Amino acid sequence: MQSSDQPSISGSRALVLLGATGDLAKRMLWPSLLHLDADGLLPEGLSLFGVARLQGTDESFKAGLRADLSGRDGIDAKVLDRFLSRIRYVSGDVTVPEGAAHLAEIIGPVDQLTFFFALSPSLYAAACANLKAAGLIQDNSRLVLEKPIGRDLESSKAINRAVAAVAAEEQIFRIDHYLGKETVQNLIALRFANTFFEPLWTGRTIDHVQITIAETEGIGDRWPYYDEYGAARDMVQNHMLQLLCLVAMEPPSDLDPDSVRTEKVKVLRSLRPFTHASAQQHCVRGQYQAGSIQGAPTKSYLDEVGRETDTETFVAMRCEIDNWRWAGVPFFLRTGKRMAERRTKIVIQFKPVPHSIFQQAGSEDLSPNRLVIDLQPDEDIKLTLMNKRPGLDQGGMRLQNMPLSLSLSASYGGEGGRRRIAYERLLLDVFRGDRTLFVRRDEVEQAWTFIDGLEKAWAEARMSPKPYLPGSWGPSGAFGLTERSGREWVD
Ligand code: BG6
Repeated sequence: MQSSDQPSISGSRALVLLGATGDLAKRMLWPSLLHLDADGLLPEGLSLFGVARLQGTDESFKAGLRADLSGRDGIDAKVLDRFLSRIRYVSGDVTVPEGAAHLAEIIGPVDQLTFFFALSPSLYAAACANLKAAGLIQDNSRLVLEKPIGRDLESSKAINRAVAAVAAEEQIFRIDHYLGKETVQNLIALRFANTFFEPLWTGRTIDHVQITIAETEGIGDRWPYYDEYGAARDMVQNHMLQLLCLVAMEPPSDLDPDSVRTEKVKVLRSLRPFTHASAQQHCVRGQYQAGSIQGAPTKSYLDEVGRETDTETFVAMRCEIDNWRWAGVPFFLRTGKRMAERRTKIVIQFKPVPHSIFQQAGSEDLSPNRLVIDLQPDEDIKLTLMNKRPGLDQGGMRLQNMPLSLSLSASYGGEGGRRRIAYERLLLDVFRGDRTLFVRRDEVEQAWTFIDGLEKAWAEARMSPKPYLPGSWGPSGAFGLTERSGREWVD
C-alpha cells in the first residue's frame, strides 16, 4: 500500500470520535485505539476527544471506559492509564452551531484534526456543516465515515454532496470494516503475488463463486436501524459487494488507492441489474421465525420489532458479471442472521477436468478443485487438490481430495497471537493517509445503484420474505438457487 498524496503532518494531532458512547465506539473503536496505543502505533502525542450528546463528565466517561476496556488481552493497568490520559470527553451536539463552537473552544489550536463519524448517517450533513463553520474542518483534516452512507442512491448522493462541500475526496475515508480484515487483504496477495492463480482466474476454468456471510445472532435491540435497511442494504450493498469486487476485479497496475478502487468500480458497473423476472428466479428473501439456538428459545424477527414488517433478515442471490472474464460464471451470494453457524467464506469452485482418465477408479472419486477462503471464525485459505490414495490399489488408481492449507492461525499464531480488530488496520491507515482500503464516492454510489435496482425488482415482483428457522441455512428456496443449475452451497 502506498501512502496518499496528502502532505505528511508534523505538529499536534487529534482524533475526534463523534458518537463516543455508542455501540460501535464501545465495541470496536475504543478497543482498537487502545491496542494501537499499547503497540506504540498511534501517532506521537495524538490526543483523543470523545464527543457525544450524553450528559456526563470526563471522569464519569473514563470510569465507564475503564470498566469496558480492562482485562483485554495484553493490556495492563499502566497501558490503560496512559491511554485514558490521552482522552478528553466532551458532552455536546455537533449537529448544532453552538455544539460545534463549544467543541472548537475545548479542542483549541491543533495542527491536524481527524473526525470519526460514528453517528447515524442522517446526522453527517449537519455535523459537517457545523464543524466547518466552527473552523474545525480545515484543508488537512480527515473525515472518517462509517457505513451506511445513505439508504439508497439518492440519500447517499445527498450525504456525499454534504461532505464534499466541506472536504475534498482525498480527505474522506469511507469505512467498510471488511476491508480491514486480514484475510480480505490476503485475497489481494493471493491473487496478485502468485503466478498460478491469475491465468486460471476466469470463466474458462472457474465454474462459479460463492460468498457467504452467516451470523448466528438475531437483530435484537438494533431493530430500529435494521428494519429500515434489511440484509440487502445492511450487508450486500457494502461488505458482500466489496468481497465480490476483490474476487472479480482485473489486476490493478499498482496498489495506489485509485488504481484498486477504479478496478472495483468497473466490476460494480458490470453487475447485471435484476429485473422483475430475474429477481423472482435468482433471489430469495427470508425472515427468521421464533425457535431455539443451542436449546435457548429465540424470538422471531417480528416479535423483536413488535409489528408486521416485510424487512428481510436473509438474502441469497445469483449475480452475473457481464464482462469477458466472468461471462457465464454465477456468483452466488448469501447472508443472514440467526443462521446455523457464524461463518464468512468465499468459495472459488473450479470446473471438472475436461476428460477423466481415471475411469476404473469410479468417477465419484474425482472432484473438481476448490479454493476456499475462510474469513471467520477461522482465517484459513485452502486449495483442494486431487492425489492418489496411498497403497496398492487393485482395479485402478484410487484418488482422494486433499486440502493444501494456509491456516493463518497455525502459521502466525505464535507471532503476537492476538487477532487484530479490523478497525485497528483501518485507523492506522487513516493516520498514515492511505486510502486504499477505503471506499471511494463512485464505488458507494454504484453499489447503491445495484441495490436500488434489486429493491425495485423485489417490489415489482411482490417478493415477501419467506420464513426460516433459527439455526438453519435460510429458506428452502436458497438451496434451489444453486441446485437448479446442478451446484450446491459449500457449508
Ligand atoms: C455490520 C452490519 O456492518 O457488519 C451488522 O451492520 C453485521 O449487521 C456486521 O452484524 C458483521 O460484521 P462482522 O465483522 O462481525 O462479520
